[in-house]
Amino acid sequence: MSISQHGRRHFVKHSALVVGSIGLTGHTAGAAPASTEELSMGYEQYIGLPVSEAPTPALLVDLDIFEKNLSQMADVCRQRKCAYRPHGKAHKSSLVGKKQLAAGAGGICAGKLGEAEVFVAGGILDVLITTEVVGRRKIERLLQIAKLAPNLKVVADSEANVADLAASARAAGLRLAVLVDVNVGQNRTGVDTADTAAKVAQAIASSRSLRFAGVQAYGGTNMHVVGYENRRAASMWALERATKARAAIEKAGLTVEMMSVGGTGTYNIDSGYPGVTEIQPGSYIFMDSHYRSIGGESSDVYDDFGTALSVLTTVISRPSKGRAITDGGHKALSTDSGLPMLKDTRGVVFQLGGDEHGVLLIKDPTRDFAIGDKVEFIPSHCDTTVNLHNVFWAVRKGLIEGVWPIEARGRTD
Ligand SMILES: Cc1ncc(COP(=O)(O)O)c(C=O)c1O
Repeated sequence: MSISQHGRRHFVKHSALVVGSIGLTGHTAGAAPASTEELSMGYEQYIGLPVSEAPTPALLVDLDIFEKNLSQMADVCRQRKCAYRPHGKAHKSSLVGKKQLAAGAGGICAGKLGEAEVFVAGGILDVLITTEVVGRRKIERLLQIAKLAPNLKVVADSEANVADLAASARAAGLRLAVLVDVNVGQNRTGVDTADTAAKVAQAIASSRSLRFAGVQAYGGTNMHVVGYENRRAASMWALERATKARAAIEKAGLTVEMMSVGGTGTYNIDSGYPGVTEIQPGSYIFMDSHYRSIGGESSDVYDDFGTALSVLTTVISRPSKGRAITDGGHKALSTDSGLPMLKDTRGVVFQLGGDEHGVLLIKDPTRDFAIGDKVEFIPSHCDTTVNLHNVFWAVRKGLIEGVWPIEARGRTD
């Protein structure tokens, strides 16, 4: 699907049309991905140019840091003999997912059915959908992709949903793998008690059109607990809860093949825990300013992974001595985890100036900006910032090496 995925040229031809070619069109709610034509005609000209030539606001990936992040996760999981299934909600790109698989990941997670459709269409066949899929039409879509990807897995946390999955899978002549989703403190989805986990697992196992595949126990809030020891204590509590659910399921006579837990913040805690078969880290490939602030095992900054993601903007107006205006606002930089961080904070304070604009308040007169200058930001939250962009600009040592489509951007369906 790529024009070239080797050497210096990583310009990728991959799109909605490719998705359509294997019959997954008709489910394109949300923003449309960049089309093949746009990618092949528009972006190729940038390959090899300095990053300052990218049309801003541009979402940049620093390839040296990104590749180090890929290796760090692979190395730690290998040492601990734990599989990992990166969460594709962080990048929404089948190309990035394939790089994670090449680095050693055992499969990919998808946050929603729409992301799973994109990943499967992009050739990733071992996908776990980490959110319940509910309703006849969505379950039909799920089974459509299960036909193409027999290793597809989904989570469920109610007998009602299991009954619907079973009926549709039976009608489609398929056997669908289902994990029980267990609430380990985030109080989002997931069964609350070990007994309910066993009941839902039994409901899955007793249906011939479903296969009981194990437990998902993701403690999202634990990822962001500040301080390694605090985070470790929170995660231990969650893992004990997951283990109780597992024990209740095993007592009911079922085998728990998979126990899929954790993310970036607890990767080096959860991966060594008895019974955990895989972890689900997402943000590690990019990192963001919020994640860095939670602190690491031996430092105030969580720097096990480097900040590979940034947003490049351009100064487009210089209305007064104390003010410079950039071309990146809410539509380029998410703020659900606070304001993005300037890479070079010297003498400036940043404010968002609306959907399309950023405002730099210049406090130090020696720091000056001319129209056309570039200003770079570290996103406060990588997932929601990625979801605002059509492509990643893959950059190495200041030069554009590739343009990678974010085909699942907007696919919250
Ligand atoms: C179910 C699930 N698993 C894994 C992750 C990955 O988390 P992180 O980005 O903290 O690694 C997320 C992120 O929100 C998630 O919702």
